[in-house]
Amino acid sequence: MPKPYFLRISSQKGGVGKTTIAVNLSTALVRQGFRVLLVDADTTNPSVGFHLGIDEVNTGIREVMSGKSNLRNTIIRHNTTGMHILPGTAYSAPFIPAKESIERLMGMLAKESYDFIIVDTAPGIGIMDIFKLYDEAIIISSPEMSACASSIRLASTYDKEKLKHNLILNRVKNRKYEISVREIEEMYGDRVRASIPEDEIVPISISEHIPAIMLDGKTRFSTAVKEMSGIYAASTGTEAYGSTKRGRSIIAFLRKIFNIQ
Ligand SMILES: Nc1ncnc2c1ncn2[C@@H]1O[C@H](COP(=O)(O)OP(=O)(O)OP(=O)(O)O)[C@@H](O)[C@H]1O
Ligand SMILES: [Mg+2]
Repeated sequence: MPKPYFLRISSQKGGVGKTTIAVNLSTALVRQGFRVLLVDADTTNPSVGFHLGIDEVNTGIREVMSGKSNLRNTIIRHNTTGMHILPGTAYSAPFIPAKESIERLMGMLAKESYDFIIVDTAPGIGIMDIFKLYDEAIIISSPEMSACASSIRLASTYDKEKLKHNLILNRVKNRKYEISVREIEEMYGDRVRASIPEDEIVPISISEHIPAIMLDGKTRFSTAVKEMSGIYAASTGTEAYGSTKRGRSIIAFLRKIFNIQ
């Protein structure tokens, strides 16, 4: 059985759209036939539940890490989207898990039959910081100088840890005062993987507890997220698609247009 693709959704600054992208990317991948587990690893402010209309739970990632709960009994099967969720539980006291607990959790997750395990994190390095356990980190940035500068710092941390990363710009309004894609690419030293627009569908979808791409698949936000999920489908978990002739030709097409080897 192939190992799931572990994707860390991260940012150095808070509030740039990590949870929004994690929820919508997971939904888009499920709709393409992949098995997806979304992990809420933001143990300070878990918010996947707000986005997806999951009532507060009393057992989640912390309890699994501390051995109080069983992983499979804790994972929620979310009917509206089809994804599985390892929820977060909120406590006022800070939670710093031991390295061994994180490794044990990641080891257990790796044995589960998912194509993608998408980990929504708190801003910064946070917990779940054993980078060698991930296949890739997505760095989310808004197009402002302070967010871009801190994203470049995070990228250099990942470089030191030899963790592959990709940068995604979110909340792009195409205003003159914003840092442009070309400017951030110069700072980052690589292509920006996706540029996702500011779109009112996002706050509307959060208030309705339905991922934006399901609420309205035709908005500019939804189109950009689906395009990004196509890149992940083509570059990583080709299983769901690759088994059919039509699927293989879609992969070949996506690889060509996104220039993926
Ligand atoms: N593309 C977008 N268009 C419009 N609003 C957006 C977009 N992306 C995110 N938002 C808004 O930004 C706010 C923060 O988003 P989100 O909670 O996903 O950020 P976060 O990085 O996970 O925050 P935190 O660091 O607190 O975990 C939300 O209120 C959401 O509605
Ligand atoms: Mg968040």
